[in-house]
Amino acid sequence: MKRLRLASSGSIRQRLILQLLVLVAVLSWVLYLSIRTVAGSAVETTQDAILGSATIAIAEELRGGVDGVAIDIPYTAFSMLGATGEDRVFYRILVDGATVTGYEDLPLADQPLGGLSPFFYTREYQSDTVRIAAVERSVIVGSRPVRVEVIVAQTRSAQDAIVAQMANRAATLGLGFFAIAALLSLLTARSVLQPVNNLAEAVGRRGPQDLRPVEWPVPSELAPLVAALNQFIARLSGALIRTETFIAEAAHHIRTPLATLRAQAEIALRQSQDEAARAAIRGMIRSVDDSARSVGQLLDHAAVVYRTDQRTDEEIDLAALTRDMVAVFGPAAELRDIGFELSLPDEPVTMTADRLLLESAIRNLLDNAVKYSALEGLISVSLEVEGDQARLTVCDSGRGLSGAKSATLTGRFRRGENVSDVIGSGLGLTIVREVVAAHGGDFRLTEREGGGACANLSLPLG
Ligand SMILES: Nc1ncnc2c1ncn2[C@@H]1O[C@H](COP(=O)(O)OP(=O)(O)O)[C@@H](O)[C@H]1O
Ligand SMILES: [Mg+2]
Repeated sequence: MKRLRLASSGSIRQRLILQLLVLVAVLSWVLYLSIRTVAGSAVETTQDAILGSATIAIAEELRGGVDGVAIDIPYTAFSMLGATGEDRVFYRILVDGATVTGYEDLPLADQPLGGLSPFFYTREYQSDTVRIAAVERSVIVGSRPVRVEVIVAQTRSAQDAIVAQMANRAATLGLGFFAIAALLSLLTARSVLQPVNNLAEAVGRRGPQDLRPVEWPVPSELAPLVAALNQFIARLSGALIRTETFIAEAAHHIRTPLATLRAQAEIALRQSQDEAARAAIRGMIRSVDDSARSVGQLLDHAAVVYRTDQRTDEEIDLAALTRDMVAVFGPAAELRDIGFELSLPDEPVTMTADRLLLESAIRNLLDNAVKYSALEGLISVSLEVEGDQARLTVCDSGRGLSGAKSATLTGRFRRGENVSDVIGSGLGLTIVREVVAAHGGDFRLTEREGGGACANLSLPLG
């Protein structure tokens, strides 16, 4: 069967997969970013809590006295901080705005402090980024309250390491999510397109004569397509039924009156004594024969065209079929003293084909051979099997093709230039060509060496 090459507007599958992959990539990226941000701020909050507690612990150890503030730095505060890694820790304690111990250049908070609840800020210090917690409290010195500020700073390499590690995990997670989602999107694309593929396959698998409506279950989105397809099939099968009826009716309504006309002309011929009238009647009978022949071939051609679409294939023995068809032509050939030389294989040559179509093709080949043969000619018909091909050759020793090409002569209504004296419609070889093409075979008409023509027909077996 010929397949139409349709212009493709791209693949739905590719488009679907591409869109899903872009979506998945964006989602993976968002997932990565949010995990990183959330994890980063969680770590910072934890670290701040430790730094804040250490700062408060130091502040709480400050004691007021009669002549000053007693500072006793609790080492537990630093061990608390030391537990969090290899970070460096700095501190600065100010009494009434003057640094009394610690690093004098440790940056101060740029806003008023809120007592013992620590204020946190991040600064550059000693070419490192430090996180700083600052608290203040007042201590009684003598009978006067003094303001004491405690500032503790810590570098953040431990926190950065943790955040980096979490970012790695987040990236792995994002990639994993991407991989799984990409796989799922492939599966989704496939499952979305599955019904379309199933439908295409179900329709494609049908034989050409299967014109039942498509009843394959399809998703609701495809229902309009299937409905349109079914309407189309219904119209096509209606048209085919009308064609078939027309061919049958036409055959009946044209052939029958022609036969009646011919019979009546023959009776008139027998009854008439007048020579001129007899000649006229003979002319009439010839015209009726011509017409009957042309009509016959036209209808034959119509039937062949119809049947190539609506084939009914069966097991056929090509050898027996050839023998039968040659027998049919026996009487017509005998009238002109033409003989048949038949060479068939001994065993049956079986193939799957449409019997009526093959009969029509062979009939037309034999008809030509008889028609274009000289009186007392010999027609040799041979059938051979070569590999998976059956080769039928019909050779006559008639007038030959006088240079005409096989491809030209098989055209519709095409006749040779050397056959104007013989009745014909130019459809015989068209029928042969169409039948052979429908069966995937090959046909060629060639000049025969020593005069005459050979029709070579090959059909695939099986
Ligand atoms: N056996 C043959 N010998 C010579 N010419 C042939 C033969 N078969 C076919 N042809 C040529 O091919 C033409 C087309 O054949 P066909 O289609 O059967 O039409 P028709 O026989 O009605 O003329 C013929 O008109 C004739 O010129
Ligand atoms: Mg013919």
